[in-house]
Amino acid sequence: MEVIIQKDAAAARKLASKIIAHQIENKPTSTLGLATGRTMELLYSLLVDQHREGKLDFSLCRSFNLDEYVGIARDDENSYRSYMNMHLFNHVNIDLRNTHVPHGDEKDLDWECHRYDKLIDECGGIDLQLLGIGQAGHIGFNEPGSSLRSRTRVKPLAPETMEQNRPLFKDPNSMPHRAITMGVGTILDSRRALMLATGKSKAEIIRKAVEGPITSMVTASALQLHPQCTVIVDEEAAELLEFKDHYRWVFESEPEWVHYRE
Ligand code: GLP
Repeated sequence: MEVIIQKDAAAARKLASKIIAHQIENKPTSTLGLATGRTMELLYSLLVDQHREGKLDFSLCRSFNLDEYVGIARDDENSYRSYMNMHLFNHVNIDLRNTHVPHGDEKDLDWECHRYDKLIDECGGIDLQLLGIGQAGHIGFNEPGSSLRSRTRVKPLAPETMEQNRPLFKDPNSMPHRAITMGVGTILDSRRALMLATGKSKAEIIRKAVEGPITSMVTASALQLHPQCTVIVDEEAAELLEFKDHYRWVFESEPEWVHYRE
């Protein structure tokens, strides 16, 4: 796991957008794993800007989102499908038929979860998986106690997650208590993982995920097992990390990052 500390949230987003752009340039047929949440909104707007400037072509890309609420219609304004259309898909040249978000309104949810994992496999797996982190330490909606080998399935949401995401619902009482989420195992199968976390509120959970023990109680800590995971944080989210000097040294000295340094 590599940790990159940037001076502020804007710089952290910019670096994440460059890594995504680089992935698409190198492999125009990339399969992207996409995430939702407030942190991603401004990152997606950077990708939209780059597309408008003619620098980013999504036409051959495919995407799989991490998760979706159970019981919410695809066109509901609170669905993650709507979120993705609104923040990214409607503004770039990705073919909507190549964008996948789990169907939280499917009758047979087990079947839907199985279909989703199978589709990821049939598409050759995920090249770059983008991730945020929730206050409960989750990646996707893999709440505390989730198996570290889990595949896509339905999970009940943790109280911290309910609290964190409820304000995003027009009617906060309508927030579902369950979601379909890629499993931790599904996420670990991605060829590259990129986590973005910014702001003071993420400092404690980032410390646990990055420098704490690998535990199903903080599923983001399983990324320590990922063969190529980059965690980008701003100074605020990095505040409680013990090995900051080491992370800075690696970013400043490794040739891989030379084109990414400002
Ligand atoms: C939701 C998503 C997670 C994401 C989290 C971060 O809970 N299911 O995948 O990591 O949001 O949210 P925010 O960026 O708003 O802190």
